[in-house]
Amino acid sequence: MDLIPVPLAAVPHEGGHRYALGPEPVLDAGPGTGGVARWLRRELGAATGWSLPPAGEGVRGDLRLRIGADPAGGLGPESYRLDIGADGAELTGATAAGLFWGAQTLRQLLGPDAHRRAPLPGRSWSLPYTAITDGPRFGWRGMMLDVARHFLPKDGVLRSIDLLAAHKLNVLHLHLTDDQGWRIEIKRHPRLTGVGAWRARSRRGHRASPLWNDTPHGGFYTQDDIREIVAYAAERHVRVVPEIDVPGHSQAAIAAYPQLGNTDVVDTGVLEVWDDWGISENVLAPTEAVLRFYEGVFEELLELFPAEVSPFVHVGGDECPKRQWRDSAAAQERIAQLGVDGEDGLQSWFVRHFDGWLAERGRRLIGWDEILEGGLAPGAAVSSWRGYAGGIAAAEAGHDVVMCPEQRVYLDHRQADGADEPVPIGYVRTLEDVYRFEPVPPQLSPEAAAHVLGAQANVWTEVMDSQDRLDYQVFPRLAAFAEVVWSRQPAPADRDFAGFEERMAAHYRRLDALGVAYRPPGGPLPWQRRPGLLGRPIEGAPPNV
Ligand code: ACM
Repeated sequence: MDLIPVPLAAVPHEGGHRYALGPEPVLDAGPGTGGVARWLRRELGAATGWSLPPAGEGVRGDLRLRIGADPAGGLGPESYRLDIGADGAELTGATAAGLFWGAQTLRQLLGPDAHRRAPLPGRSWSLPYTAITDGPRFGWRGMMLDVARHFLPKDGVLRSIDLLAAHKLNVLHLHLTDDQGWRIEIKRHPRLTGVGAWRARSRRGHRASPLWNDTPHGGFYTQDDIREIVAYAAERHVRVVPEIDVPGHSQAAIAAYPQLGNTDVVDTGVLEVWDDWGISENVLAPTEAVLRFYEGVFEELLELFPAEVSPFVHVGGDECPKRQWRDSAAAQERIAQLGVDGEDGLQSWFVRHFDGWLAERGRRLIGWDEILEGGLAPGAAVSSWRGYAGGIAAAEAGHDVVMCPEQRVYLDHRQADGADEPVPIGYVRTLEDVYRFEPVPPQLSPEAAAHVLGAQANVWTEVMDSQDRLDYQVFPRLAAFAEVVWSRQPAPADRDFAGFEERMAAHYRRLDALGVAYRPPGGPLPWQRRPGLLGRPIEGAPPNV
């Protein structure tokens, strides 16, 4: 059946029988299944031409949707059971989410063309007789998308949500602000997007590249765009986690509002949104006024991302250069007044302020693992990116953790060692490397391991300036990642990568039907190469650092 991610248990019916679906299958949608029925009518309807009419009195549906208590036997709220036999397909979810993941399985079973947006002529449709019970290993199965370095227009975000959902991934972490751009409308601070959402030019390639693209770059999501994105994701059982990065990675905000910067050491009035890659020295000033400004930003954010959608709000907290705070008399005075431990203590103070502020509003702070350095409120969680160590320390201290070590699951990193890889950066991380990624380090105690909520793959976009470049970096590796976080896999060395590759043959046809410009197994196609654009490879890095 070539399902990806592979289900926990799938028993094919002996004899290879299939249930044939005619030109007008009937959809019997039981109580609580309306959202999934709507999705099936929209997606399968587009691909097949079916309208999927509801079952009338006494008519047995070809496809039957149900919510039932524990249909898969102890596999949790996102589990489902799918039975296909002579009387059609019956799909039962433990919740609407479980039902939705089962609907994704059903679509895969119909074949690659069920992922198209219009029917091809002459197609007939059938489903293999089978019994599948399935449910995810982790509740946080995510991808982080950096829409700051290169803006991804709204349609691209909606498409990404569909692609996540097709892989049973359920978290989209949106990195909305950085030195190179501010991407979300904040009504009380209109210059954040008026000024901060565009830059005059961009470096082509990574930091060592001498080339520039002189076309202005930018864009932002209006608040209604964000509401639409959040609602679209919710219908697909994907949570959107917003990130506003403080106190570093803030040059775009400072360019928009110069008083946010360290005005006693730099003339922030002449700063522009950064046009280069790297980590800007221009960080937020540690003042009460800056805290009030960002409280205003987060107030609007909380309204756009209700707690039911994401109790978590990501505050960044990574990579904050300290030079300006060292040089700033005002920052030094602040250190003395707060009694914190130097510039590092100032960074912790900044993050801890928003930790408490969010907790007072019933929300949970999540941040990159640097936030651990100053001590955290009990409910705060950590995105472990600098390897596993931060995640291990956080989990042992009782904090929830999302594993996303850069050495393993940064999908901006190159996929092979060849000179043909477009703008190669970072470590070589092949499809097999991602397949053998393990989110829970073996040395964790069982109590600490229970704090690993799951994992996410991170996609930074300095060298991805188009949807095709994004597709190339993300696929097929996201399919391997999906299997890591959904399926209950053995230890990395014991995983059946050859079997996964065999199933990928069918999955490439699904990605073709979905219009995804993935990296083919044989390497980049001529138009996927970027000859002459310098990246920043890390040469000779050991494979499992
Ligand atoms: C990060 O990669 N700076 C979180």
